[in-house]
Amino acid sequence: MAAASEVPKLKLNNGAEMPAIALGTFLGFDQNGPVKSENKHLRDVVMEAIDVGYRHFDTATIYNTEDEVGEAINMKIRDGKVKREDVFVTTKLWNTQHKREQVTEALKTSLEKLGLDYVDLYLMHWPLGLNDDYTHSSVDFMETWRGLEDVVNQGLAKGIGVSNFNEDQIRRVLTEGNIKPAVLQIEIHPQIIQTDLVSYAQSQGLVVMGYSPLGSLVMRFGMMFPGPRVDDPKLVKIAQKYGKSTPQVVLRWLVDRNIVPVAKTTNPKRLRENINIFDFTLEKSEMEDINQYDSKKRYTQPSFWQNHPYYPFEKVDNPIADPFIKKN
Ligand SMILES: NC(=O)c1ccc[n+]([C@@H]2O[C@H](COP(=O)([O-])OP(=O)(O)OC[C@H]3O[C@@H](n4cnc5c(N)ncnc54)[C@H](OP(=O)(O)O)[C@@H]3O)[C@@H](O)[C@H]2O)c1
Repeated sequence: MAAASEVPKLKLNNGAEMPAIALGTFLGFDQNGPVKSENKHLRDVVMEAIDVGYRHFDTATIYNTEDEVGEAINMKIRDGKVKREDVFVTTKLWNTQHKREQVTEALKTSLEKLGLDYVDLYLMHWPLGLNDDYTHSSVDFMETWRGLEDVVNQGLAKGIGVSNFNEDQIRRVLTEGNIKPAVLQIEIHPQIIQTDLVSYAQSQGLVVMGYSPLGSLVMRFGMMFPGPRVDDPKLVKIAQKYGKSTPQVVLRWLVDRNIVPVAKTTNPKRLRENINIFDFTLEKSEMEDINQYDSKKRYTQPSFWQNHPYYPFEKVDNPIADPFIKKN
């Protein structure tokens, strides 16, 4: 099991240090919206995560998990297990709060739920703004970025960054912003390795966080996606060489690219398994073998927003219906 001291840290361009793996806390959506943890289960998971060495937690306004993440951290601070400065908390601004003047209020609400005075990282979840009724808003993401700069200047966030931005959109923030984004969070797993976008972001000094890192290996919200599974022979061979599991090999493949995996589990055994990846390194040829699975297939592809002027991804022929718009 990894002790906290064994989890390396990556230096951000604001001088802060980010632990090299984050625990994801998104529990999925059902017909009522974000799935809520029952009987404080997520709080207990986060407390256990702190016990086994996690120091980085990824949440978001839309996940509806900020309260239990914050409660767990605060309980561990009260117990003397950690200090606030030992823990790195990332949360995200939702798309319906993109006007500059909304950003500070949105983060203050998140901080109240978290029970914290500041977050370590505040991300713009998507470059596209939406109105309250989920119709498209024309608010420019650079206006939103000014709002993120405001929260840094007020001390409410130590660092700011972007999520689900494409290269042109990142370039605009770098060119027109006053504060450079510290982080880019995007989907990365063997089915979408994102070579070019990762290279660009890293060349500009951003640290990249990879979400859904386990890709097609695992069941996600009751669904399996095409691609290699946990028993994939090529991955099993690499895993056996290091005495690891195939999920550990894939998480290490991200770490060896200087990408911070954001892996979600609420299972005590897998919580330990996923952080136990800092005592081996993959060889270049093994990295290349894993790269071969790339099919540029996204799992997170909200094609219902694809006619938005700031939609970051390629368009598809048959967009799906918008699940956020409630039908009467
Ligand atoms: N910025 C964005 O737009 C965005 C989008 C999506 C996700 N995210 C972030 O990324 C996090 C992770 O994304 P994700 O949940 O899509 O993908 P993931 O972490 O790659 O996969 C999670 C799934 O894998 C299972 N699992 C975890 N570790 C395992 C292991 N060692 N062996 C077998 N199964 C394992 C989990 O089940 P158990 O819980 O039962 O272990 C869960 O079903 C989210 O929680 C969120 O914080 C961000």
